[in-house]
Amino acid sequence: MVSLLRLRRQRDIFRFLMSVDNLSFPEAVRWVAEKYSIALPVFVARPEESDKDRQQILDATQATEAFYQNVLRAEPEAQEARRYLQQRGLREEVIEKFGIGYAPSGGGRLIGYLTEQGFAAELLEKAGLAKKSELGKGYYDSFRRRIIFPIKDVRGKTLAFGGRVMDDGVPKYLNSPETVIYSKSRHLFGLCFAREAIREQNHAILVEGYLDCIIPFQEGVRNIVASLGTSLTQGQVRLLGRYTKNVVVNYDPDTAGVNAMRRSLELFLEEGFRVNVLRLPDGLDPDAFVRRSGAQEYRRSMKQCEPYLEFIADEALKDAGAGARSRLNAVNAVLPILAKVPDRVERLEFVSRISSG
Ligand code: UTP
Ligand code: MN
Repeated sequence: MVSLLRLRRQRDIFRFLMSVDNLSFPEAVRWVAEKYSIALPVFVARPEESDKDRQQILDATQATEAFYQNVLRAEPEAQEARRYLQQRGLREEVIEKFGIGYAPSGGGRLIGYLTEQGFAAELLEKAGLAKKSELGKGYYDSFRRRIIFPIKDVRGKTLAFGGRVMDDGVPKYLNSPETVIYSKSRHLFGLCFAREAIREQNHAILVEGYLDCIIPFQEGVRNIVASLGTSLTQGQVRLLGRYTKNVVVNYDPDTAGVNAMRRSLELFLEEGFRVNVLRLPDGLDPDAFVRRSGAQEYRRSMKQCEPYLEFIADEALKDAGAGARSRLNAVNAVLPILAKVPDRVERLEFVSRISSG
C-alpha cells in the first residue's frame, strides 16, 4: 500500500497539479491515482474536512458570480453600471463571456442570497465574500456598488473577484483576499479564454489590468492575459510557460512600471522565455490604445516591439547619464539581469552595448 508519506515525498507532479490546476494535495493525489489506476488507501481517497470547505467555497463563489451577473442584467440599480460598461466599450457578448457582473449596494444582498441557499456566513467570510462587522456580530458583503470582474483558473472556474468603482473612489479596484481556493500569485486573468490562442500562436501578450486584457480580446486579440497589477510572480510565469515561451510584456509606460518590468524580465529569463517589451505611444495602456487606434494597429505595434535587452539597456543608460563612471553604474544596475541571460554571445553584446553607450 502506498503510504501518504511516500506520496508526499514524490511531490513534483502533485505540486505541479496543485499550483497549475488549483487542486488541493489530496485532490492531486486522487487525480493521479485515477489516471494511472492506482488503488489508494481509504484515508487518502476520502475527502478531508478542509477539502469539503474548499468545495463549498468554490460552490459559493460560482453562485456569487451568477448572482452578480443577474443583478447587472436585470436590476434597476445596475443601470449606471450597464451604462459605465457601455461607455468603456464593452459589448454584450464579452460581458457574458467574462462573466462580468454588478455588486449592489445595501451591504447584505449577497449574504442574504447565499445563506438562503444554505451557505454559512462564516464560510462566506472564508471565501472573501463577506466581512465580519466590527460593531456587532453580523456580516456584510465585501463588494458593494462595484462592477465585478471574475478571476478564473485555467479551467474557467471562478476563484475570486475584482470590483471596480464607477467614480473616483478608492481603491479603484477591490480584489478578493487570498483564500483556500485563490492565491493571486498563481493565476493570470483571462488565461482560460486565451490559452488556446496562446498555444496556437505560440505567443502571449502580458498586460497589467482587467480591461487591458478584455478590450483587446473583444477586438480579436485572443492571446492576451493580465497579471493584475505590476508585480508578476514566478508562479504566474510558470503557469504561462505551460502554453508558450514567447511573450510580449505590455505594461503601462507611466506606472512604477520600469522596475516592475525589470523584475518580470528576470523572472521570464529564469524560466527560459523569449521576451519582448512593448511600450505604447502617448502613455496609453492597451485598453486605451485599442479603443483609440484599433486592434489592427495594436497588432502592428506588436511587430515593432523591442527585445528586452534593448529596453533594459536603454533604461539603464537613461538613468545613468553621460560619462564612463555612469556607464559603470549602468552596467552594475543591469548585472542581475545579465546573469540570467542564457546565451553567452547575447550576454557579451549586452555589455558592449551598455559600455559603449
Ligand atoms: P491601473 O491603475 O493601471 O488601472 O491598474 P487600469 O487597469 O488602467 O484600470 P481602468 O482602466 O482605470 O479600469 C492596473 C491593474 O492593477 C490592479 C488592477 O488589476 C488593475 O487593472 N489594481 C489597480 C488593483 O488591484 N487595485 C487598484 O486599486 C488599482
Ligand atoms: Mn486603463
